[in-house]
Amino acid sequence: MNIGILTGGGDCPGLNAVIRGAVRTAARRYHWNVLGFLNGYKGVIENKFLELNEKSVSGLLPRGGTIIGTSNRDNPFAYAEIIKGNHIVSDASDRVVETYKKNNLGALICVGGDGTLSTALKLAEKGINIVGVPKTIDNDLSATDYTFGFDTAVNIVMMAIDRLKTTAESHDRVMVVEVMGRDAGWIALYAGLAGGAQIILIPEIPYNVDKIVQKIYERKSKGKNFSIVMVSEGAKSVGGEVTVKRIVDDPTTAIRLGGVGGVVADEIEEATHIETRVTTLGHVQRGGTPSAFDRILSTRLGIEAVHMIKRGDFSMMACLRTPDIKCVPLSEAAVTRQVPPDSQIIEEARSIGISFGD
Ligand code: F6P
Repeated sequence: MNIGILTGGGDCPGLNAVIRGAVRTAARRYHWNVLGFLNGYKGVIENKFLELNEKSVSGLLPRGGTIIGTSNRDNPFAYAEIIKGNHIVSDASDRVVETYKKNNLGALICVGGDGTLSTALKLAEKGINIVGVPKTIDNDLSATDYTFGFDTAVNIVMMAIDRLKTTAESHDRVMVVEVMGRDAGWIALYAGLAGGAQIILIPEIPYNVDKIVQKIYERKSKGKNFSIVMVSEGAKSVGGEVTVKRIVDDPTTAIRLGGVGGVVADEIEEATHIETRVTTLGHVQRGGTPSAFDRILSTRLGIEAVHMIKRGDFSMMACLRTPDIKCVPLSEAAVTRQVPPDSQIIEEARSIGISFGD
């Protein structure tokens, strides 16, 4: 049998490990061939793929990115193409079905976040056997304990905080660190805890700049003349709006957040006259080699995706239910998850003096 795999949405450390886990399981356990469709849904619409085998996935475990490419623009149900110089948007989902039949595929593994998985569910309604694998550094997908890529991002941010602390301390500065996460504050919260930030601003808890300033002065009164303020890109003040960096051509989420770190830094400097600098970590959080946790999680998800095909568990998503890998209906999976403001971990952070600016 032939099976297909694609990676959709923003890239994420661990995607190649999923591909490796799936290809090795397909080859060794079931003697199936795997076609890796190029650049997300674009590859299945245009029937462009790489034949993947054990040799082609050799050495992929530590490699960041995705060897088959990804895209967050190409939606089969509203596919944009330039035909004879004209920009045309059409429903190309039948072309996906054609590709599926032409290559005698028994199933298609879709590795992605909420956008990719919602599209996958719509393709399942057209008769394609779909298996989902959750992916995002944001950790904002429900139905799985963790998404792979998150642990790597948290480690990268933690290491940045460690470095920023020594320079902040030397200069008596406030360092604002802006991190990714869209509407969820998981990266800021976990990296802030791991790195020992004193103030963590997340989308789920709107901030009041007076409270941030109060915390900085409280530290100064104890002889701590520097502070680290973690800011999630989706953070906003009480009654305020998110800071939008740009609008992009992405059918799922066109808004790209960014810039709130600068806003917060200006507010702090104006109120305290303490020199306040901003570091925006950006795509550094998404690049490079996955952590040990993410390598293991993504490998296990890739293996499970292939076993799901063998069992006929279609329109389902592989997920982590610690310590096991399980599967859940895709309809439950493509639902986002934010940090509950009343969760235990928030309370624990407050117990050790971390301010959420509220
Ligand atoms: O969803 C993952 C993510 O990295 C977000 O944290 C971030 O807001 C967004 O993608 C950035 O996307 P892009 O690379 O398309 O700008």
